[in-house]
Amino acid sequence: MQDATHPDPHLPACDLADRIADRTCRYGVIGLGYVGLALAEAFARRGIRVLGFDIDDAKVSEVNAGRSYIPDVQAGDVAAAVEAGTLEATTDLRRLAEMDVISICVPTPLSKSRDPDLSYVDAALKSVERALRPGQLIILESTTYPGMTQEVLEPRLQRQGLKVGSDIWLAFSPERVDPGNQRFGVANTPKVVGGVDAGSAAIATAFYGIAIEHVHRVSSAAAAEMVKLLENTFRSVNIGLVNEVALMCDRLGLDVGEIVEAAATKPYGFMAFEPGPGLGGHCIPLDPIYLSWKLRRLDYTARFIELATEINANMPRYVGERVAAALNAQSRAVRGSRILVLGVAYKRDVDDTRESPAIEVIRRLVEAGADVVYADPYVETLTIDDRLFASVAVTAEELAVTDCVVVATDHGAFPWSDVARHARLIVDARDAVPRDEVRHVLWPLSGPAVLGPQAPAPQTGTDPQTDRVFQVPRENQ
Ligand SMILES: NC(=O)c1ccc[n+]([C@@H]2O[C@H](COP(=O)([O-])OP(=O)(O)OC[C@H]3O[C@@H](n4cnc5c(N)ncnc54)[C@H](O)[C@@H]3O)[C@@H](O)[C@H]2O)c1
Repeated sequence: MQDATHPDPHLPACDLADRIADRTCRYGVIGLGYVGLALAEAFARRGIRVLGFDIDDAKVSEVNAGRSYIPDVQAGDVAAAVEAGTLEATTDLRRLAEMDVISICVPTPLSKSRDPDLSYVDAALKSVERALRPGQLIILESTTYPGMTQEVLEPRLQRQGLKVGSDIWLAFSPERVDPGNQRFGVANTPKVVGGVDAGSAAIATAFYGIAIEHVHRVSSAAAAEMVKLLENTFRSVNIGLVNEVALMCDRLGLDVGEIVEAAATKPYGFMAFEPGPGLGGHCIPLDPIYLSWKLRRLDYTARFIELATEINANMPRYVGERVAAALNAQSRAVRGSRILVLGVAYKRDVDDTRESPAIEVIRRLVEAGADVVYADPYVETLTIDDRLFASVAVTAEELAVTDCVVVATDHGAFPWSDVARHARLIVDARDAVPRDEVRHVLWPLSGPAVLGPQAPAPQTGTDPQTDRVFQVPRENQ
């Protein structure tokens, strides 16, 4: 929040600064998705009149009806803000002209060739350009490569005949929303801000101070862009490392879950990351590519990013191999086996399937001839390669007809004890199944299988010709 006793020396004396100070500024949020709706609601809650803009009629209608389609944004909060008249939504982007502050929160995905796809930002920017008037503050919140705000947005806005730093203001502020996080939301997650000039930075800092407890200002928009990419590259590289440790543990006959858990008892100098079936979501698998793309243009190879991306992208293949090995140990083939994939959202307790590694796991199992079904309490249907899948219920009957359960996402709502008790064979890529309750066979992400108390002990025999010990197929035991 702003400190009235220490006024910011960089804060320009202008109408907008006054309107921010007396809370009469109007706030426009372009893109009412995971990021934009949460931001809009946080400011509306503080009494700022917010107008959300989206090209998706359905989202606009939902907001205006006081409903939320984002799990982290409570429907009651949206309804209260709409009722109080502080939150409204529209598809009419011409109304951006009425706004004092505009945040751009549109997607920044990758193209088919895995380069930054900036077409959404470009379209949003066109709408801003058409509505631009003196005194507005424009903030890009979509994740992008270092330099974009200054190199692309500033000249485009200035083409409208308005000077950034005196007529209008321009800043970058990365979004840090963590879907499913019960502890940290918009208000109590510190916000990093960088302006293309000192006045823009100061005015953006003052604006965010309305709704966010701590605003951390950096020296430039490019620095703020780089902060976001460091944060997400840090996660990607560390997850890549622990995933590679899982592959190493498999060769060594060790269970990576046990190793990470024990290492995490060190009270300093170690931070635990969980291995799993690969990266997912709209951020961690994609954002580092924005950085490596930019650096390629500067004749530099971002080696950590490339290595982590490769390791993480190969994890679904590894899970598929683990399923094949687990079935093979029971003298079964992937082809023709019924496989139940638990969880298709990219992480625990969210409904987002973007870039979810479970999709790649399913694709590989289907290609190998398995009869695949999935269960996910947050995702009713899922289309993979033009094929529609519908979520099934995790019942004792379903588990009884399943040859192998694959845990891809550890949603809290799954009946883990039932899975442990009824599933014949489990490949657990999330270390979610209670081991002491497993009745049959569990294959953790790495290392040897865990046999439940009722699992038939594998019988072995000796080949009289080669003297080699072999395992008797289950059907023959
Ligand atoms: N989702 C996250 O957890 C998260 C976290 C941090 C940062 N980010 C970043 O924030 C940005 C937005 O991500 P998101 O997850 O909110 O995306 P999203 O897909 O959930 O929402 C984007 C919204 O923008 C709308 N939109 C697209 N083009 C538009 C246009 N021209 N005009 C108006 N509306 C338009 C879409 O209809 C959609 O509702 C991305 O750059 C992302 O990398 C996302």
